[in-house]
Amino acid sequence: MADALAGPTRFHVLTIFPTMFVSPFSEGIMARAISNELVEVRPHDIRDYAPDRHRTVDDYPFGGGPGMLMKAAPLFDAVEAARSTARSADCPVILLSPQGRPLTQAVVEELTRVPEMVLVCGRYEGVDERVRDYLVTDEISIGDYVLSGGELAAMVLIDAVSRLLPGVVGSIESTEDDSFTTGLIQHPQYTRPAEYRSWRVPDTLLSGNHAEIARWRRRESLRKTLRRRPDLLETAELTDDDEKYLHQLRQDQTFH
Ligand code: ADE
Repeated sequence: MADALAGPTRFHVLTIFPTMFVSPFSEGIMARAISNELVEVRPHDIRDYAPDRHRTVDDYPFGGGPGMLMKAAPLFDAVEAARSTARSADCPVILLSPQGRPLTQAVVEELTRVPEMVLVCGRYEGVDERVRDYLVTDEISIGDYVLSGGELAAMVLIDAVSRLLPGVVGSIESTEDDSFTTGLIQHPQYTRPAEYRSWRVPDTLLSGNHAEIARWRRRESLRKTLRRRPDLLETAELTDDDEKYLHQLRQDQTFH
């Protein structure tokens, strides 16, 4: 975790649309984390580092082809300016791009240990490859689809990392049994009323028997994960009981 004495976890964001970062962080948990000085989001306008009157940050690709690329120089200058203010010299520089390593909950947890980072949002058809080769220290994708820029991906990363920082999500909201934290999909949850349009909440949840409830939840997680994301079962930590239950489900002709 980021050291509380060193101040908030700080996300520098390099973008040509700095105002995109205002509204998503003005609500809910993120707004509270920022006002409690647990998190800081600092957008930097890449155009401020363009040397010309038109503040040009893109250009045609050598060799031809469609679209425009983000030029190297404004990105190098913007990263160097942001990094020069960093509290630690090894502040990572992360490019958001569909070519990056996938953002998983394990990567999110790894980033909670980084107190300050620079997030580079690409736009147009991509960035000059020298940015990848000589400027960034990491490249992250939020999924196998193409966004019109890295901004939304940067917001996703900031949100996912921030909610795991100490004090950001209260114990009432808790992140402990989130899907993926346990390596499994979360069990079903219900709130009042116990019956709605004749659909009843499972009896076990109303029983007050905490051991039974925990067992039901674990089994529902396993069942849902087997049905929807069987790939997760290869890496989840499973007990002998879990394995037995999964074996039963796989044998059950009515399960599939
Ligand atoms: N920029 C465009 N598409 C992206 C993606 N899938 N992940 C991260 N950054 C992106």
